[in-house]
Amino acid sequence: MNQVRKLVSVSDMTKEWWDALYTRCCDIIARPGVYADSCRGKILSSMFYEPSTRTNFSFQAAAQRLGAGVFGFSDPVGTSASKGETLADTIRMTASYSDTIVIRSPQEGSATAAALYSEVPVINAGDGGHFHPTQTLTDLTTIARERGEIGNMRVGLCGDLKHGRTVHSLVEAMTMFPNVSFSLISPPELRFPEYVLDQMKVNGQEYEESETLADRIPELDILYMTRIQRERFQDAAQYRRLKDVYVLSKKMLDNAKSNMLIMHPLPRYGEISTDVDYDPRAVYFEQARYGMLIRMALLLEFMHMPRQPQPYMAGEDLKAECQNPACITSSDLYLPKLISNLAPDRCGYCDKKMTVMLL
Ligand code: NCD
Repeated sequence: MNQVRKLVSVSDMTKEWWDALYTRCCDIIARPGVYADSCRGKILSSMFYEPSTRTNFSFQAAAQRLGAGVFGFSDPVGTSASKGETLADTIRMTASYSDTIVIRSPQEGSATAAALYSEVPVINAGDGGHFHPTQTLTDLTTIARERGEIGNMRVGLCGDLKHGRTVHSLVEAMTMFPNVSFSLISPPELRFPEYVLDQMKVNGQEYEESETLADRIPELDILYMTRIQRERFQDAAQYRRLKDVYVLSKKMLDNAKSNMLIMHPLPRYGEISTDVDYDPRAVYFEQARYGMLIRMALLLEFMHMPRQPQPYMAGEDLKAECQNPACITSSDLYLPKLISNLAPDRCGYCDKKMTVMLL
Protein backbone atom coordinates (compact mmCIF):
# COMPACT_ATOMS: atom_id res chain seq x y z
CA MET A 1 0.00 0.00 0.00
CA ASN A 2 1.10 3.59 -0.39
CA GLN A 3 2.03 6.46 1.92
CA VAL A 4 -1.21 7.08 3.86
CA ARG A 5 0.12 7.58 7.42
CA LYS A 6 -2.89 9.08 9.15
CA LEU A 7 -6.63 9.19 8.62
CA VAL A 8 -7.90 12.50 9.95
CA SER A 9 -10.03 13.30 6.92
CA VAL A 10 -11.09 11.67 3.69
CA SER A 11 -8.52 13.83 1.87
CA ASP A 12 -5.85 11.55 3.39
CA MET A 13 -7.21 8.68 1.27
CA THR A 14 -6.62 7.81 -2.35
CA LYS A 15 -8.64 5.47 -4.54
CA GLU A 16 -5.73 3.01 -4.80
CA TRP A 17 -5.37 3.00 -1.02
CA TRP A 18 -9.08 2.38 -0.56
CA ASP A 19 -9.06 -0.47 -3.11
CA ALA A 20 -6.18 -2.20 -1.32
CA LEU A 21 -7.79 -1.67 2.09
CA TYR A 22 -11.10 -3.09 0.91
CA THR A 23 -9.39 -6.08 -0.68
CA ARG A 24 -7.70 -6.79 2.64
CA CYS A 25 -11.01 -6.40 4.47
CA CYS A 26 -12.63 -8.96 2.16
CA ASP A 27 -9.78 -11.37 2.89
CA ILE A 28 -10.25 -10.81 6.63
CA ILE A 29 -13.93 -11.66 6.19
CA ALA A 30 -13.06 -14.79 4.19
CA ARG A 31 -10.15 -16.02 6.33
CA PRO A 32 -10.34 -14.43 9.81
CA GLY A 33 -8.07 -17.05 11.39
CA VAL A 34 -5.12 -15.99 9.24
CA TYR A 35 -5.16 -12.55 10.88
CA ALA A 36 -5.69 -13.58 14.50
CA ASP A 37 -2.07 -12.88 15.50
CA SER A 38 -1.13 -10.33 12.88
CA CYS A 39 -0.77 -7.48 15.39
CA ARG A 40 0.49 -9.50 18.36
CA GLY A 41 2.69 -7.25 20.53
CA LYS A 42 1.20 -4.03 19.12
CA ILE A 43 -0.85 -1.60 21.19
CA LEU A 44 -3.73 0.68 20.22
CA SER A 45 -4.34 3.85 22.18
CA SER A 46 -8.04 4.69 22.28
CA MET A 47 -8.80 8.26 23.37
CA PHE A 48 -12.52 9.06 23.49
CA TYR A 49 -13.27 12.54 24.81
CA GLU A 50 -16.88 12.16 23.65
CA PRO A 51 -19.43 9.32 24.06
CA SER A 52 -19.32 6.41 21.65
CA THR A 53 -20.57 2.85 21.47
CA ARG A 54 -19.96 1.46 17.99
CA THR A 55 -16.83 3.34 17.03
CA ASN A 56 -15.06 2.79 20.34
CA PHE A 57 -16.09 -0.85 20.73
CA SER A 58 -15.45 -1.71 17.09
CA PHE A 59 -11.91 -0.32 17.27
CA GLN A 60 -11.27 -2.26 20.46
CA ALA A 61 -12.75 -5.43 19.01
CA ALA A 62 -10.79 -4.93 15.78
CA ALA A 63 -7.49 -4.57 17.67
CA GLN A 64 -8.18 -7.60 19.84
CA ARG A 65 -9.20 -9.76 16.88
CA LEU A 66 -5.77 -8.99 15.40
CA GLY A 67 -4.07 -9.99 18.65
CA ALA A 68 -3.17 -6.41 19.69
CA GLY A 69 -3.60 -4.84 23.12
CA VAL A 70 -5.65 -1.71 23.79
CA PHE A 71 -5.48 1.01 26.44
CA GLY A 72 -7.37 4.23 26.66
CA PHE A 73 -10.41 5.99 28.04
CA SER A 74 -13.99 6.59 27.06
CA ASP A 75 -14.37 9.58 29.35
CA PRO A 76 -11.62 12.18 29.87
CA VAL A 77 -12.50 12.48 33.56
CA GLY A 78 -9.70 10.53 35.22
CA THR A 79 -7.05 11.63 32.71
CA SER A 80 -4.66 14.57 32.88
CA ALA A 81 -6.88 16.41 30.41
CA SER A 82 -9.07 17.11 33.43
CA LYS A 83 -6.01 18.72 35.10
CA GLY A 84 -5.61 21.00 32.09
CA GLU A 85 -2.95 19.11 30.13
CA THR A 86 -2.74 20.22 26.50
CA LEU A 87 -3.76 17.88 23.73
CA ALA A 88 -0.21 18.08 22.32
CA ASP A 89 1.34 16.78 25.56
CA THR A 90 -1.25 14.04 26.02
CA ILE A 91 -0.65 12.90 22.44
CA ARG A 92 3.14 12.87 22.82
CA MET A 93 2.73 10.54 25.81
CA THR A 94 0.18 8.19 24.32
CA ALA A 95 2.16 7.99 21.06
CA SER A 96 5.23 6.93 23.02
CA TYR A 97 3.29 4.08 24.64
CA SER A 98 1.42 2.78 21.58
CA ASP A 99 1.56 2.00 17.85
CA THR A 100 -1.58 3.82 16.64
CA ILE A 101 -3.85 6.42 18.23
CA VAL A 102 -7.61 6.65 17.76
CA ILE A 103 -9.10 9.94 18.93
CA ARG A 104 -12.67 11.23 19.20
CA SER A 105 -13.35 14.69 20.52
CA PRO A 106 -16.16 17.26 20.49
CA GLN A 107 -13.64 19.81 19.18
CA GLU A 108 -13.36 20.22 15.42
CA GLY A 109 -9.84 19.74 14.10
CA SER A 110 -8.65 17.82 17.17
CA ALA A 111 -7.39 14.86 15.15
CA THR A 112 -5.54 17.18 12.76
CA ALA A 113 -3.91 18.80 15.80
CA ALA A 114 -3.10 15.42 17.35
CA ALA A 115 -1.36 14.24 14.17
CA LEU A 116 1.05 17.20 14.42
CA TYR A 117 2.48 15.80 17.67
CA SER A 118 2.25 12.04 17.17
CA GLU A 119 5.01 9.81 15.90
CA VAL A 120 2.50 7.02 15.31
CA PRO A 121 -0.51 7.09 12.95
CA VAL A 122 -3.53 9.05 14.17
CA ILE A 123 -7.08 8.04 13.27
CA ASN A 124 -9.95 10.50 13.57
CA ALA A 125 -12.91 8.74 15.17
CA GLY A 126 -15.04 11.90 14.92
CA ASP A 127 -14.10 15.55 15.58
CA GLY A 128 -17.17 17.50 16.65
CA GLY A 129 -19.58 18.15 13.80
CA HIS A 130 -16.72 18.10 11.26
CA PHE A 131 -15.52 14.72 9.95
CA HIS A 132 -15.70 11.00 10.67
CA PRO A 133 -13.55 9.22 8.07
CA THR A 134 -13.65 5.71 9.56
CA GLN A 135 -17.44 5.80 9.51
CA THR A 136 -16.97 6.50 5.81
CA LEU A 137 -14.78 3.39 5.48
CA THR A 138 -17.64 1.53 7.16
CA ASP A 139 -20.19 3.02 4.78
CA LEU A 140 -18.11 2.28 1.67
CA THR A 141 -17.59 -1.31 2.80
CA THR A 142 -21.33 -1.71 3.35
CA ILE A 143 -22.20 -0.35 -0.08
CA ALA A 144 -19.54 -2.43 -1.83
CA ARG A 145 -20.50 -5.67 -0.07
CA GLU A 146 -24.27 -5.21 -0.22
CA ARG A 147 -24.55 -3.66 -3.67
CA GLY A 148 -21.58 -5.19 -5.43
CA GLU A 149 -20.22 -1.84 -6.62
CA ILE A 150 -19.83 1.74 -5.47
CA GLY A 151 -20.99 4.16 -8.13
CA ASN A 152 -23.81 4.64 -10.66
CA MET A 153 -26.24 5.52 -7.91
CA ARG A 154 -28.35 8.25 -6.37
CA VAL A 155 -27.71 8.69 -2.65
CA GLY A 156 -30.24 10.35 -0.36
CA LEU A 157 -28.75 11.91 2.76
CA CYS A 158 -31.49 12.74 5.23
CA GLY A 159 -31.65 14.49 8.60
CA ASP A 160 -29.12 16.71 10.34
CA LEU A 161 -26.76 17.49 7.49
CA LYS A 162 -25.41 20.51 9.32
CA HIS A 163 -23.92 18.70 12.30
CA GLY A 164 -23.70 15.16 10.92
CA ARG A 165 -19.99 14.52 10.54
CA THR A 166 -20.51 11.11 8.92
CA VAL A 167 -22.23 12.59 5.88
CA HIS A 168 -19.61 15.34 5.52
CA SER A 169 -16.94 12.68 5.09
CA LEU A 170 -19.13 10.40 2.98
CA VAL A 171 -19.82 12.94 0.23
CA GLU A 172 -16.15 13.73 -0.07
CA ALA A 173 -15.30 10.04 -0.43
CA MET A 174 -17.86 9.66 -3.19
CA THR A 175 -15.65 11.77 -5.47
CA MET A 176 -13.56 8.59 -5.88
CA PHE A 177 -16.42 6.74 -7.58
CA PRO A 178 -18.22 7.27 -10.90
CA ASN A 179 -21.68 8.69 -11.45
CA VAL A 180 -22.84 9.38 -7.89
CA SER A 181 -25.48 12.07 -7.36
CA PHE A 182 -27.18 13.22 -4.17
CA SER A 183 -30.58 14.17 -2.79
CA LEU A 184 -29.84 16.31 0.26
CA ILE A 185 -32.92 16.12 2.47
CA SER A 186 -33.03 18.39 5.51
CA PRO A 187 -34.90 21.31 7.03
CA PRO A 188 -33.36 24.63 5.89
CA GLU A 189 -31.77 25.12 9.34
CA LEU A 190 -29.90 21.83 9.04
CA ARG A 191 -28.51 22.09 5.51
CA PHE A 192 -24.92 21.10 4.81
CA PRO A 193 -22.46 23.72 6.06
CA GLU A 194 -21.01 26.06 3.47
CA TYR A 195 -17.62 24.31 3.42
CA VAL A 196 -19.22 20.99 2.43
CA LEU A 197 -21.38 22.55 -0.31
CA ASP A 198 -18.39 24.54 -1.58
CA GLN A 199 -16.38 21.38 -1.79
CA MET A 200 -19.16 19.55 -3.63
CA LYS A 201 -19.24 22.38 -6.16
CA VAL A 202 -15.45 22.35 -6.58
CA ASN A 203 -15.59 18.58 -7.09
CA GLY A 204 -18.44 18.89 -9.60
CA GLN A 205 -20.78 16.69 -7.58
CA GLU A 206 -24.41 16.77 -8.65
CA TYR A 207 -26.94 17.42 -5.89
CA GLU A 208 -30.42 18.71 -5.22
CA GLU A 209 -31.58 20.03 -1.85
CA SER A 210 -35.08 19.34 -0.58
CA GLU A 211 -37.12 19.12 2.60
CA THR A 212 -39.48 16.21 2.02
CA LEU A 213 -38.26 12.67 2.43
CA ALA A 214 -41.29 10.88 0.99
CA ASP A 215 -41.00 12.73 -2.35
CA ARG A 216 -37.40 11.68 -2.82
CA ILE A 217 -37.59 8.00 -1.85
CA PRO A 218 -38.57 6.58 -5.28
CA GLU A 219 -35.42 7.95 -6.97
CA LEU A 220 -32.90 6.62 -4.45
CA ASP A 221 -30.47 3.70 -4.59
CA ILE A 222 -29.26 4.43 -1.08
CA LEU A 223 -31.11 6.18 1.71
CA TYR A 224 -28.69 7.27 4.43
CA MET A 225 -30.60 8.46 7.50
CA THR A 226 -28.95 10.50 10.26
CA ARG A 227 -29.82 11.51 13.79
CA ILE A 228 -30.68 15.09 14.70
CA GLN A 229 -27.56 15.84 16.77
CA ARG A 230 -28.96 17.24 20.02
CA GLU A 231 -25.55 17.80 21.61
CA ARG A 232 -24.45 20.22 18.87
CA PHE A 233 -27.44 22.59 19.00
CA GLN A 234 -26.89 25.96 20.60
CA ASP A 235 -30.63 26.61 20.75
CA ALA A 236 -32.57 23.95 22.71
CA ALA A 237 -35.92 25.20 21.40
CA GLN A 238 -34.73 24.75 17.83
CA TYR A 239 -33.69 21.18 18.64
CA ARG A 240 -37.11 20.40 20.13
CA ARG A 241 -38.82 21.83 17.05
CA LEU A 242 -36.71 19.78 14.62
CA LYS A 243 -36.00 16.54 16.45
CA ASP A 244 -38.86 14.52 14.95
CA VAL A 245 -38.82 16.10 11.52
CA TYR A 246 -38.09 12.80 9.72
CA VAL A 247 -39.36 9.37 10.67
CA LEU A 248 -38.85 6.61 8.12
CA SER A 249 -41.63 4.04 8.41
CA LYS A 250 -42.16 0.71 6.66
CA LYS A 251 -45.14 2.19 4.79
CA MET A 252 -42.93 4.84 3.17
CA LEU A 253 -40.82 2.08 1.62
CA ASP A 254 -43.69 0.98 -0.62
CA ASN A 255 -42.47 3.50 -3.17
CA ALA A 256 -38.78 2.67 -2.83
CA LYS A 257 -36.69 0.65 -5.27
CA SER A 258 -36.65 -3.04 -4.38
CA ASN A 259 -32.86 -3.01 -3.98
CA MET A 260 -32.47 0.36 -2.24
CA LEU A 261 -30.13 0.18 0.77
CA ILE A 262 -31.25 1.82 4.00
CA MET A 263 -28.21 2.91 5.97
CA HIS A 264 -27.64 4.75 9.24
CA PRO A 265 -24.38 5.23 11.19
CA LEU A 266 -26.38 4.69 14.42
CA PRO A 267 -27.34 5.48 17.14
CA ARG A 268 -30.85 6.29 15.96
CA TYR A 269 -33.26 8.39 17.92
CA GLY A 270 -36.62 7.67 16.36
CA GLU A 271 -35.77 8.61 12.77
CA ILE A 272 -36.14 5.00 11.61
CA SER A 273 -39.09 3.20 13.12
CA THR A 274 -38.38 -0.33 14.31
CA ASP A 275 -40.75 -1.90 11.80
CA VAL A 276 -38.15 -1.06 9.13
CA ASP A 277 -35.53 -3.25 10.84
CA TYR A 278 -36.79 -6.47 9.27
CA ASP A 279 -37.06 -5.10 5.76
CA PRO A 280 -34.33 -6.75 3.66
CA ARG A 281 -33.27 -3.31 2.43
CA ALA A 282 -32.31 -2.21 5.97
CA VAL A 283 -28.57 -2.81 6.40
CA TYR A 284 -27.68 -0.60 9.36
CA PHE A 285 -26.87 -3.45 11.72
CA GLU A 286 -24.71 -5.14 9.08
CA GLN A 287 -23.11 -1.72 8.57
CA ALA A 288 -22.00 -1.68 12.21
CA ARG A 289 -20.35 -5.08 11.80
CA TYR A 290 -18.57 -4.02 8.60
CA GLY A 291 -17.20 -1.15 10.69
CA MET A 292 -15.22 -3.55 12.84
CA LEU A 293 -13.96 -5.51 9.83
CA ILE A 294 -12.71 -2.52 7.83
CA ARG A 295 -11.13 -1.10 11.01
CA MET A 296 -9.23 -4.39 11.31
CA ALA A 297 -7.84 -3.81 7.82
CA LEU A 298 -6.91 -0.24 8.76
CA LEU A 299 -5.21 -1.15 12.05
CA LEU A 300 -3.31 -3.96 10.38
CA GLU A 301 -1.74 -1.39 8.09
CA PHE A 302 -1.19 1.44 10.57
CA MET A 303 0.11 -0.55 13.54
CA HIS A 304 3.07 -1.88 11.56
CA MET A 305 4.25 1.55 10.36
CA PRO A 306 7.66 2.76 11.53
CA ARG A 307 7.58 5.63 14.02
CA GLN A 308 8.03 9.03 12.46
CA PRO A 309 9.12 11.91 14.73
CA GLN A 310 7.18 15.09 13.99
CA PRO A 311 8.96 18.34 13.12
CA TYR A 312 8.98 21.16 15.69
CA MET A 313 5.83 23.28 15.41
CA ALA A 314 5.95 26.71 16.98
CA GLY A 315 2.90 28.62 18.13
CA GLU A 316 4.47 31.90 16.97
CA ASP A 317 3.51 30.89 13.47
CA LEU A 318 -0.14 31.43 14.37
CA LYS A 319 -1.07 34.54 12.44
CA ALA A 320 -4.74 33.98 11.85
CA GLU A 321 -7.54 33.38 14.26
CA CYS A 322 -10.37 30.97 13.76
CA GLN A 323 -13.64 32.35 15.13
CA ASN A 324 -15.33 28.97 15.42
CA PRO A 325 -15.82 28.31 19.16
CA ALA A 326 -15.96 24.57 18.48
CA CYS A 327 -12.52 24.60 16.78
CA ILE A 328 -9.59 23.08 18.67
CA THR A 329 -7.65 26.34 18.13
CA SER A 330 -10.09 28.14 20.45
CA SER A 331 -8.74 26.22 23.46
CA ASP A 332 -5.27 25.06 22.37
CA LEU A 333 -3.72 28.42 21.67
CA TYR A 334 -0.23 27.05 20.96
CA LEU A 335 -1.34 25.36 17.72
CA PRO A 336 0.39 26.56 14.56
CA LYS A 337 -1.55 28.21 11.78
CA LEU A 338 -2.89 25.77 9.22
CA ILE A 339 -4.79 26.66 6.08
CA SER A 340 -7.59 24.51 4.72
CA ASN A 341 -6.93 22.92 1.35
CA LEU A 342 -10.36 24.23 0.34
CA ALA A 343 -9.50 27.94 0.37
CA PRO A 344 -6.82 30.24 1.86
CA ASP A 345 -9.34 32.01 4.12
CA ARG A 346 -10.47 28.78 5.78
CA CYS A 347 -9.05 27.25 8.94
CA GLY A 348 -6.92 24.15 8.36
CA TYR A 349 -8.36 22.50 11.48
CA CYS A 350 -12.14 22.99 11.13
CA ASP A 351 -12.51 24.33 7.53
CA LYS A 352 -14.63 27.30 8.68
CA LYS A 353 -13.92 30.82 7.40
CA MET A 354 -11.30 32.69 9.46
CA THR A 355 -10.90 36.35 10.28
CA VAL A 356 -7.37 37.29 9.29
CA MET A 357 -5.60 39.26 12.03
CA LEU A 358 -3.30 42.03 10.90
CA LEU A 359 0.03 41.83 12.75
C1 NCD B 1 -22.13 8.75 14.52
C2 NCD B 1 -21.19 9.77 15.14
O1 NCD B 1 -20.69 9.58 16.25
O2 NCD B 1 -20.95 10.75 14.45
N1 NCD B 1 -22.08 7.52 15.15
C3 NCD B 1 -21.10 6.63 14.86
O3 NCD B 1 -19.93 6.92 14.93
N2 NCD B 1 -21.46 5.41 14.43
C4 NCD B 1 -23.50 9.27 14.29
C5 NCD B 1 -24.23 9.94 15.42
O4 NCD B 1 -23.75 10.07 16.54
O5 NCD B 1 -25.34 10.36 15.15
